[in-house]
Amino acid sequence: MKKTKTYPEEVYWNDTWVRPEEAFVSVFDRSFMFGDGIYEVTPFYAGKPFMLKEHVARVKYCLQEMNIVFDTSILEDLMLEAVNRSSFSEEDAAVYLQISRGTAPRSHFIPEKVQPSLLLYAFKVDLANFENRYWKVMASEDLRWHRCDIKSTALLANTLANEAAISAGYDENLLFRNGFFTEGSHTTIFFVVEGTVYTHPEGRQILSGITRKVVLDLCQQLSIPVKEEAFPVDGLASVEEIFLTGTTTQIAPVSSVTIDGKGLFSAQKGKITTRLQEEFLRRTRG
Ligand code: PDD
Repeated sequence: MKKTKTYPEEVYWNDTWVRPEEAFVSVFDRSFMFGDGIYEVTPFYAGKPFMLKEHVARVKYCLQEMNIVFDTSILEDLMLEAVNRSSFSEEDAAVYLQISRGTAPRSHFIPEKVQPSLLLYAFKVDLANFENRYWKVMASEDLRWHRCDIKSTALLANTLANEAAISAGYDENLLFRNGFFTEGSHTTIFFVVEGTVYTHPEGRQILSGITRKVVLDLCQQLSIPVKEEAFPVDGLASVEEIFLTGTTTQIAPVSSVTIDGKGLFSAQKGKITTRLQEEFLRRTRG
């Protein structure tokens, strides 16, 4: 089902806080013309940021990979300010930020002396009771480019994959390449086989998820064995549990996987997913 989304109360744009309808972007902005920009989503639990430094570090990595020069030292304070200024400063929220390479006459090469732009805003998000939501998912070919480690605003393949799932009544689309799962349209995938947790290794095929890092750390804390290996689609028959992770998804149990209309996995929430959710709640809610 499609959730209704609303505009934020205000946005930080070109060094000032303005109402969304007062923020204008040039038609020659490169994020508009080429998707030449990066973004980040950082969660706030009851007004407190979670993994803030890690989110900023990922922004820095993406900017470096894109060769965009931007001072990320302002971001932590701006994110805190965005939440503090909002009418939901004590509630669960998230901050979206987007850095575009900037505005310049259209060219395939990267123009010199272009000034990057920053858009940043807080929005309310329901982070409670994630542990009891079951995700019914489909899976399809991963049609994205080969730099999925860059959190680029060029998300067309992700949005089309997600739309294919939502419009057919699923909650997410798991993507596979050459017979191996990579990640979901906006989530990281984990499989459990004989008590071992499998997830795709970091690299160019997936986004290096911050929640993924938290889950790997929790596995270590709980002595749950982990293999960072790509998981084959034809291995689904042996899978005991599947869960998805992401900043707003947190840790979501998958109840079924369908490929080309065929149900290939179905399960209730398993022991490992439950254990990880309990510890995740402890870390996020203290
Ligand atoms: N999506 N993989 C993809 C393709 C994603 O877009 C996301 C997050 C993740 C999970 O990463 P993290 O745990 O750092 O949120 C994995 C965000 C939330 C979004 O696009 O809104």
